[in-house]
Amino acid sequence: MTVVARPEELLALAVDVAGEAGRVALESQDGIDVLDTKSSPTDVVTEMDRRCEEMIRERLLQERPGDSVLGEESGTDSGTNSVRWIVDPIDGTVNYLYGREDWAVSVAAEVAGDVVAGAVVVPRHGDIYTAARGAGAACNGQPLRAAQPVRLDRALVATGFGYSAARRAQQAEVLRAVLPQVRDIRRGGAAAVDLCSVARGRADAYYERGLNHWDWAAAALIAREAGVRVEGLHHAPPDSELLLAAPPVLFEELHDLLA
Ligand code: IPD
Repeated sequence: MTVVARPEELLALAVDVAGEAGRVALESQDGIDVLDTKSSPTDVVTEMDRRCEEMIRERLLQERPGDSVLGEESGTDSGTNSVRWIVDPIDGTVNYLYGREDWAVSVAAEVAGDVVAGAVVVPRHGDIYTAARGAGAACNGQPLRAAQPVRLDRALVATGFGYSAARRAQQAEVLRAVLPQVRDIRRGGAAAVDLCSVARGRADAYYERGLNHWDWAAAALIAREAGVRVEGLHHAPPDSELLLAAPPVLFEELHDLLA
């Protein structure tokens, strides 16, 4: 059976479940501790990563039985519908652990392989970023537009680093080449928030290697709908090799430097 829904309906549900999880995570941030580690000793999980994902999964499948859910903490629940939800219960877990502000709940709805709706809730900023495919992006209901394009030497570029030491060493090498060429670099600690910052004009570009789909599924749609180009290397869709987000012209300059 295929149960289809309009992107706006999926978006409403994404906002609802991400908002609920964001409220629960916010209430528990104070005093939170490490529960487990994943790919490396620095790749941590808190009780709230797990609890929020369970909560989101349960709500989504209650409202839309038969959908599939891919989540950072517990993998895939496969359903028979064409809708798949892609969930990061807490993007920016290390920030969350340290009582910092840049962390987000990210929920995207994909239909037949295309993300059509996405919500990124940043509880400590009071921001709810939303987008439905073809209908634009918004923050707290206000339409979002990316910043006016700038050249590479005037660009504020956000980036991030993976959890493996070998990958970090490579990322440091790339950064050595990028830093002298741009206005400055920001490392916020949450990919979804970084992408939304580009959508909002608070950074000119963002790039990272080694991201997982749940880190960017919702926020990439938000950025695209705000006029940002989001791709991987050589016109490929973003993947674990590279996600690069920037307005045209800056995109090409940064792409060529990174490639
Ligand atoms: C991480 C954050 C971070 C990025 C890492 C991601 P997590 O996600 O988005 O900014 O640099 O690559 O893994 O682990 O906090 O969900």
